Amino acid sequence: MKSYNVTIVGGGSTWTPGLLKALVSYKDKFRLKKLVLFDINEERQNVIGGFAKVLFREYYPETEVVITTDKETAYQDVDYVFCQMRTGGYEMREKDEKIPLNNGVIGQETCGAGGFAYGIRSIRDMIEMVEDIRRYKPDAWILNYTNPAAIVAYALQKRFPDDKKILNICDQPINLLYSYAKILGVKYEDLEPYYFGLNHFGWFKNIYDKGGKDLLPELKKIITEKGFLPADAEQRDKSWLDTYSLVQDMLVDFTEFLPNTYLQYYIYPQYKLTHLNKDYTRANEVMNGREKNVFAECRRVMETGTAKGADVVKNDAHGEMIVAIADSIANNLKKYYIVIVENNGIIPNLPDDAMVEVTSLLGINGPEPFHVGEIGTFYKGLIENQYAYERLTVEAYFEGSYEKALQALTLNRTITDAKKARKVLDELIEANKNYWPALK
Ligand code: NAD
Ligand code: G6P
Ligand code: MN
Repeated sequence: MKSYNVTIVGGGSTWTPGLLKALVSYKDKFRLKKLVLFDINEERQNVIGGFAKVLFREYYPETEVVITTDKETAYQDVDYVFCQMRTGGYEMREKDEKIPLNNGVIGQETCGAGGFAYGIRSIRDMIEMVEDIRRYKPDAWILNYTNPAAIVAYALQKRFPDDKKILNICDQPINLLYSYAKILGVKYEDLEPYYFGLNHFGWFKNIYDKGGKDLLPELKKIITEKGFLPADAEQRDKSWLDTYSLVQDMLVDFTEFLPNTYLQYYIYPQYKLTHLNKDYTRANEVMNGREKNVFAECRRVMETGTAKGADVVKNDAHGEMIVAIADSIANNLKKYYIVIVENNGIIPNLPDDAMVEVTSLLGINGPEPFHVGEIGTFYKGLIENQYAYERLTVEAYFEGSYEKALQALTLNRTITDAKKARKVLDELIEANKNYWPALK
């Protein structure tokens, strides 16, 4: 059996322990020769790395485990890079959420002005990472989860247009599919989903069962009548339960397709604004919840020397998806995944260079996206607006253009007012001065 060298960039991420557990559970399918955790923050890295060493000593001793902050060690012989970095950490996420909220617009990790700020921060580090990897390993697969995935994907496509081995992926479609499967009482693996849109901005069009029956009408009916909960509701913080519950509202208003949870920030900006707590945002919830728990649990594992029964994972779907995707590519399984690809006619009435999120078969030569066809005026209008915002954000970064940044924020449906956009932009520039290029 073939075995692979895998490097996790953002080794100190709160999602890494779940990913490590998934790698262990796939040892007979996607086999590891070497695992490298790479991070720029040695302190975080050493705690998660300490957990990795204990876990692999117990369950996967044949794999070499390397914990490093050195790029050459990380990339020299890598086959698959899994990337989940957060430039600026939760400290900057908190500002992304609070600065907009204090100016009367939505503050969210990946949507609106917060996503814009995070996007400009991520682009620089993601480009540097791809350049570093390609210096050592031109043909390694780069599977990226770093957010905001829409903006990162568009920027990487513009900067590395000929690189066919960079794939940007989001776990939210899979989180939703797990939840649908639970509602319907079927197995997630038996669902064949068809999805279209941009990242964090899309809809399920059809979801077929093994027999070819479309389950979407039944699902819409259940959610419209009874509401919607995530599959792992008992592990979720309150804010995520609120987010899922609004899917019911979206379905009542717009009945055709099943919306991604993230659409609510654009469809109900006023409602969201008045229901988000500007003194205690999602970043605070994560710092006091997942981050604290994961790091405490990893430290405990290091001290006791065993990972048996360790409670390090809050959402199994995320790590499982990352490894399943690598497995589908490496073993040419051509399984269905919803991934981010260049449009090029998949949705003929959208720009060719938009980075769309659509159902694809994933094999050794990368994604083979399914044709979606022309989309209706409502979806086209929403997506074109969001695409223009994303594109202007990326252009603002590459050109160092203040005016394009202002155009981007003005177009964003969570803002729409140029005077508000300018005020938020100016405060974000000040807060991000250690991370952003100068915008003139
Ligand atoms: P986190 O802050 O806990 O972890 C990120 C890690 O990246 C930190 O240890 C940090 O030191 C490291 N890092 C920062 N800049 C780096 C760089 N230039 N090179 C290498 N490492 C660097 O954050 P988290 O909550 O665990 O999330 C990690 C990332 O994964 C975020 O971008 C998040 O948005 C993303 N994410 C994406 C999805 C998805 O659906 N695509 C799902 C979950 C998380
Ligand atoms: C989902 C999204 C990710 C996002 C994450 C935030 O998984 O698909 O893109 O980063 O939620 O979760 P958090 O728990 O950090 O708010
Ligand atoms: Mn996502």
